[in-house]
Amino acid sequence: MAIHQNTWGTFLEPDPGLADAEHPHEALKIPIQGGHHAELDIFAGKNAVFDRMAARIQSVGIAYEDQCSAYHYFDLFGRVERCHGELSRLVDVGVFMGGSAAVLAGCVEPMGLELDLVDVNDAYLQFTYERLRRAFPRAMTRIRMFHGDLPTYAARVLATEAQTRALVHHDGAHSFDQVIRDVSALYFVRERVHGMAIQGTHLRGDIRYLNFVDAAVYAMFGVGVKYEPLGANFPADAPVTVPNEWDGNYFLAGQPEGMYVPFDGVEWKYPHPMMELEDFLPGEGPSGG
Ligand SMILES: C[S@@+](CC[C@H](N)C(=O)[O-])C[C@H]1O[C@@H](n2cnc3c(N)ncnc32)[C@H](O)[C@@H]1O
Repeated sequence: MAIHQNTWGTFLEPDPGLADAEHPHEALKIPIQGGHHAELDIFAGKNAVFDRMAARIQSVGIAYEDQCSAYHYFDLFGRVERCHGELSRLVDVGVFMGGSAAVLAGCVEPMGLELDLVDVNDAYLQFTYERLRRAFPRAMTRIRMFHGDLPTYAARVLATEAQTRALVHHDGAHSFDQVIRDVSALYFVRERVHGMAIQGTHLRGDIRYLNFVDAAVYAMFGVGVKYEPLGANFPADAPVTVPNEWDGNYFLAGQPEGMYVPFDGVEWKYPHPMMELEDFLPGEGPSGG
């Protein structure tokens, strides 16, 4: 596996060594902890396109881990399906092992869209690309990997493409400050963005992680922001509402896992119009999170 240290801010070429790898995550040295697979089957019979996509995703016999709930993936698919006629591209920010990317990749062919994968970690991008290639080989000419964060992608890609109309799925850093940077960057290319589906709006955790995605949404768009809830919504007695033993993460009861914020008519409370996209770029390479 080639290490792409000097690829920040550029599109990556697929790693040819992964095509024959029995265990791509081992070749890329990606540890799998929980190994959770989203149960896409619970939606069987609700949508024929989703059913075909789920079957393709499940037919790929490699080890991976999905980090969102099946409810989030199904709602994300439904959101894309409803507005795909107004879109040219899907952008998945924060791919990890390709859970959300697989669902978005399944929309590429039937809905005539492109998909850009954006992540600060090049190994995750390569793993995700290979997972998608095995599930949706004919879609791959329309799928690219961008090594960087969302402000860098906005500056180097969206800002240069007048015709693009993108739906951005944000599941990258969940820390308040980085989410603010990411969404702020979209302000400068807002004419090219239909809306943003943002995951982790029910997330809390240890104070050192500053997991306040919902607060970042309110800071950007105001407390009265109009959004469509996405994904799971847990009751107060659900075990996941208690801090876990590893990083202290837990979910707020009664709060949606994600929010879809359409940009048409949204009120920007930040950034100030006198600020510039460059103000939101990372100073020295990956900002992580
Ligand atoms: C929660 S995981 C994504 C899970 C994935 N969407 C899924 O459905 O399973 C977060 C991902 O965001 C990436 N990441 C962290 N900080 C980021 C940033 N500032 N910009 C882009 N990606 C980031 C991590 O490398 C990781 O791949």
